[in-house]
Amino acid sequence: MKSLIDIQELSTAEIDKLIEIANDIILNPSKYSEKCKGKKLATLFYEPSTRTRLSFEAAMYELGGNVLGFASSDNSSASKGESVADTVRVVSDYVDIIAIRHPKEGAPLVASMHSLVPIINAGDGGHNHPTQTLADLLTIKREKGTFDNLTIGMCGDLKFGRTVHSLIGAMSRYQNVKFVLISPEELKIPSYIKQEILDEKNIDYVETRSLEEAIPDLDILYMTRVQRERFFNEDDYLRLKDTYILNEKKIIKAKSDLSILHPLPRVNEIAVEIDNDPRACYFKQTLNGKYIRMALILKLLGVE
Ligand code: NCD
Repeated sequence: MKSLIDIQELSTAEIDKLIEIANDIILNPSKYSEKCKGKKLATLFYEPSTRTRLSFEAAMYELGGNVLGFASSDNSSASKGESVADTVRVVSDYVDIIAIRHPKEGAPLVASMHSLVPIINAGDGGHNHPTQTLADLLTIKREKGTFDNLTIGMCGDLKFGRTVHSLIGAMSRYQNVKFVLISPEELKIPSYIKQEILDEKNIDYVETRSLEEAIPDLDILYMTRVQRERFFNEDDYLRLKDTYILNEKKIIKAKSDLSILHPLPRVNEIAVEIDNDPRACYFKQTLNGKYIRMALILKLLGVE
């Protein structure tokens, strides 16, 4: 039995295979419509979600399976004080696979130690979000045709943004990838990511505050939301929340084949006027998220 807690647990060959299956699902959805007949997915979400939970559920339904779970800890026994370990031990008796999101870093790892079935980390605090990264990778592959030789700008809350941490981990394994890390001083990438990934693998990266200066060089611009729920102090959030707003004026100097990604939800980081720009990929990214989660469920359940 295999779980997915951190994107680095998947080799690049395994990622290629997931992308191949997702692309095949996009072309031939009916081929997959009964692959998980009789199987159940539980979505245990201790934190808010729209895309991740609903795309997991849609993914399982489109594979012919069924779904149960909770969308908030308030209506689960967590509100009575039950531990994640006990909840997962019990739910894993009822289902074949579990996707779990939790505000505490490491909770899905703990869950995997107490589960009888595969666990998928659907986001743990400000730490990791491997299935968002799979959606990002499928989008990059479909837009760019490659993972090599890309200059990737990551902009916004690089400190608390778990999608950023996982995507850096995944992309740092390809050839000649450069990162431009764009954030205010207070929201810079954590030093453990620098030490354990960027420095360790000798990756070319720069840190800057200026989106305007960075934009002309980028092949991919990954915008992120300032993660309000992880702040200790509302004043800091209010001061930093609108640091970056991508609008038509700011992308004048961007490459014509730039791909603009955002894990969503967006607050103010991308003006709606950008949505009709052919470079905007964030709504493709959310749809890709469903297909790659279908591929992942098949893989973890060992379905051919
Ligand atoms: C992200 C998350 O939950 O980390 N959302 C998502 O899953 N698509 C990004 C965010 O909430 O800002």
